[in-house]
Amino acid sequence: MSLLKVSDIGVRYSRLTAVRNVSFTLEEGEVLFITGPNGAGKSSLLRAIAGVTPPAGGRIDFAGRDITGLVPETIARLGLSMVPEGRDVFASLTIEENLMVGTGMHSGENGWRARAAAELETVYATFPILKERRHSQAGLLSGGNSRCW
Ligand SMILES: Nc1ncnc2c1ncn2[C@@H]1O[C@H](COP(=O)(O)OP(=O)(O)OP(=O)(O)O)[C@@H](O)[C@H]1O
Ligand SMILES: [Mg+2]
Repeated sequence: MSLLKVSDIGVRYSRLTAVRNVSFTLEEGEVLFITGPNGAGKSSLLRAIAGVTPPAGGRIDFAGRDITGLVPETIARLGLSMVPEGRDVFASLTIEENLMVGTGMHSGENGWRARAAAELETVYATFPILKERRHSQAGLLSGGNSRCW
């Protein structure tokens, strides 16, 4: 069973179709890169998976459960969340608080603090500038820095 199964997903903003017929599966431990030019629909696809923008069609299964149409907070509690970037960061929160948005939703689980700390260290090892500025307001980052994650 795949961890994430996206089947024939579409996203529409009134008459504009931003995402059409996207399907893929993701196994636990796998990393998937989604690329495309500005406006191709990458963020729209992620927002649909996270429940922020309900998909216009298709089905999303996560950890063996149909999550299509569930609200973002329910999906996040199941362990799937979207970390914002660029102009979508939570401007008044610190960089570290933004990075914790996803991991904090697991706070009911045993050992979540250690797992969250390990995930943060991985991010900081890749983008040391974020570690240096972790207590700064995310809204003060330059456009490029706020796209590090
Ligand atoms: N809330 C919205 N309302 C209406 N149209 C939107 C909305 N969000 C995105 N769009 C449109 O949907 C299309 C896909 O946008 P999206 O933000 O998903 O692209 P992207 O691939 O993430 O682009 P970028 O690389 O610039 O981040 C674009 O034409 C965009 O203008
Ligand atoms: Mg985008």
